Amino acid sequence: MASVKNSSAKSRKRVVELQSAIKKAEKSAEKAGKAAKRASHSASKAKKARHEAIDAIKEMRSENRETRAKLEKYAKQRAKDALRKKEAIKKARKALKKKLKKQAEADKTKAKQRKPRKKQRKKAVKTRRARNRAIFAMQLDQALRDFDRDHLWHPYTSLTNPLPVYPVSSADGVMLTFDDGRQVIDGMASWWCVIHGYNHPHLNQAAKQQIDAMSHVMFGGLTHQPAIELGQKLVGMTAEPLEHVFLTDSGSISVEVALKMALQYWQGVGKPDKQRFLTVRGGYHGDTFGAMSVCDPVGGMHQLFQGMLPQQLFAPRPDITPGDSWSDDAISDFAELIDRYSDEIAAVILEPVVQGAGGMRFYHPNYLRKMRELCDRHDVLLIFDEIATGFGRTGKLFAYEHAEVTPDILCVGKAITGGYMTLAATIATDKVAKGVCSDDMVFMHGPTFMANPLACAVANASIELLLESPWQSRVQSIESHFNTALEPLRALDAVADVRSLGAIGVVEMKESLTVSAVQEALIDEGVWLRPFGKLLYAMPPYVMEQEQLHKVTDAMSRVVNRL
Ligand SMILES: Cc1ncc(COP(=O)(O)O)c(C=O)c1O
Repeated sequence: MASVKNSSAKSRKRVVELQSAIKKAEKSAEKAGKAAKRASHSASKAKKARHEAIDAIKEMRSENRETRAKLEKYAKQRAKDALRKKEAIKKARKALKKKLKKQAEADKTKAKQRKPRKKQRKKAVKTRRARNRAIFAMQLDQALRDFDRDHLWHPYTSLTNPLPVYPVSSADGVMLTFDDGRQVIDGMASWWCVIHGYNHPHLNQAAKQQIDAMSHVMFGGLTHQPAIELGQKLVGMTAEPLEHVFLTDSGSISVEVALKMALQYWQGVGKPDKQRFLTVRGGYHGDTFGAMSVCDPVGGMHQLFQGMLPQQLFAPRPDITPGDSWSDDAISDFAELIDRYSDEIAAVILEPVVQGAGGMRFYHPNYLRKMRELCDRHDVLLIFDEIATGFGRTGKLFAYEHAEVTPDILCVGKAITGGYMTLAATIATDKVAKGVCSDDMVFMHGPTFMANPLACAVANASIELLLESPWQSRVQSIESHFNTALEPLRALDAVADVRSLGAIGVVEMKESLTVSAVQEALIDEGVWLRPFGKLLYAMPPYVMEQEQLHKVTDAMSRVVNRL
C-alpha cells in the first residue's frame, strides 16, 4: 500500500512537473511566436525598404539616362549651331570681301573720274573765299571800323580823336587773331585776367553747362549752387578770418562795396565820424567815384572831378622795393597820418606789394606788416585791393601772403573767371560783417547781376583749373625769364628801370611812350602789348610757352632798342 501511495505521489508530482513544463513550453512558444511575428514584420519591412530602394535606384537610373540624353541632345545641337554659324560667318566674310573689292574698284574708278573735278572745285572755293575775305575785310574796314570809331568809346580814349583799334576775330591759347588774318601773342592776358589762355575747353564747358541750366537769376531772395560753390572756394582759399563774401560785377564795384562796408561798420559799432580813407599815392582802385577818390590824386582823375570826389588822405607812395633792406623810415609819413587822423579814418586801402595801373611798382612786404600793426593800434580797418594781384599773379596766390598779414576786407576780381566774364568779390571778416549788421542794419548794396550764375560757374572752373595746375612753377619760370631777358635793357640810355615780380615784367622808360607807334611796332613783331605812360610791360597768361615768352621779350627789346 505504501508503495502504491508512493508511486501515486510520484505520479502526481510528475504530472505537476509535466504541467509546469507544458506551461513553460507554451510560454516560450508564445515568446517564440511573438519573436517570429516581430521577425517576420521586420523582414517584410526590410523587404519593403529594399523594394523602395530598388525602385528609387531604378528611377534615378532612368532620370540619369534622361538627363544624359538631354545633354547629349543639347551638345549635338550646339555643335550643329556652331557649324552653321561658322559657315554663315564664312559666307558673310566672303560676301563682305566681295563687296569691299567691288566697292574699292568702284571708288577707284570714281576717284579717277573725280580727280580733275575735285581739283577744280578746290581752286574755285579758294578763289571764292579769297574774294569774300577781301570784300568782307573791306566791309569791316569801311562800315564797322567807321561805326566803331564814330560811335563806340574805347577805354580812356577820345571819340573825336581816338587811338587806333585792331579788330580781333578770334582768340585761342595765348594767340589773338586779327580779322585780316594776322596773329599776335597776347602778352597782356587781356588786362591781366586771362591766366589760363583763351578758348579753354574746361572753362568753355563750364559756361556751356551753366547756360543750359540758367544764365542768370536775381540774387535777391534766391540763391544757387554756382554762387555757393564760389563762396566756399573764396573763403577756403583766402586767409582764415576772411569769411563773408559779397559777389559784385566788376573790380571797381568790389572796391565801392569794400568802402561802403567800412563806413557801415563804423556806424554799426557807434563811431559814425570815421568816414575818411587813408591810402598811398600811386594807387589805382577803379573808375567809379568812391574808387577814384582813393586812386593816385595826380595820375588818377582827381583834377577832372574836383569838388565831386570825397577828400581822402594820401601818404607818399611806398618807395622801398622788395629787394631793399627794411627801415621803419619807409613808413614814417604813413604812420604820422594814421596817428593824426585816426578818429576820422574808417579804413586804409591799398594794393599789396604791387601797385598796378598806378605805375607797376613793387614795394617791400614789411610795409604791409607795419601797416597792419598801425591799423590795429589806431582802430582802423585795413582793405587790400587784390583785383590785379589775386590768383597767383605775383607768385603767391594772393600778394598779402608775401607779408603774411591779412586784411579786414579783401577785393578780388579780374582773373577770378580766367578772363571769361566780369565778376569780382569783396570778402570781409566776421568782425566787419557783425559790425555792419549790428542793430538790425542791412548792408546797403545789391546789384542786378549780383552773383551771376554764368560768371560764378566759370569762376569755379577757373579756380579749379588754377589750383590743379602747376601755376607756381609756371609763374616762377615766367619771372626768371623776365629777369634774364629784360635786364640787359637797363643799360640803355632811354630806360629808367627794369623790374619783374611773378608773371609781371616791366620796362620803365625815361620818357612817355607813344602808344600807337609802339603798339604798331610790336604787332609787326607778332606781339600784343599795351604800353601806358612811360611803361612797356607784359603780364602774360600763365600758360605761355617759353618760345612764346621769348618772342614777347625779344619784341620788347627790339622796340625799346629802337627808341
Ligand atoms: C588794383 C585794381 N583795383 C580795381 C580795378 C578796377 O577793376 P575793374 O576794371 O574790373 O572795374 C583795377 C583794374 O585794373 C585794378 O587794377
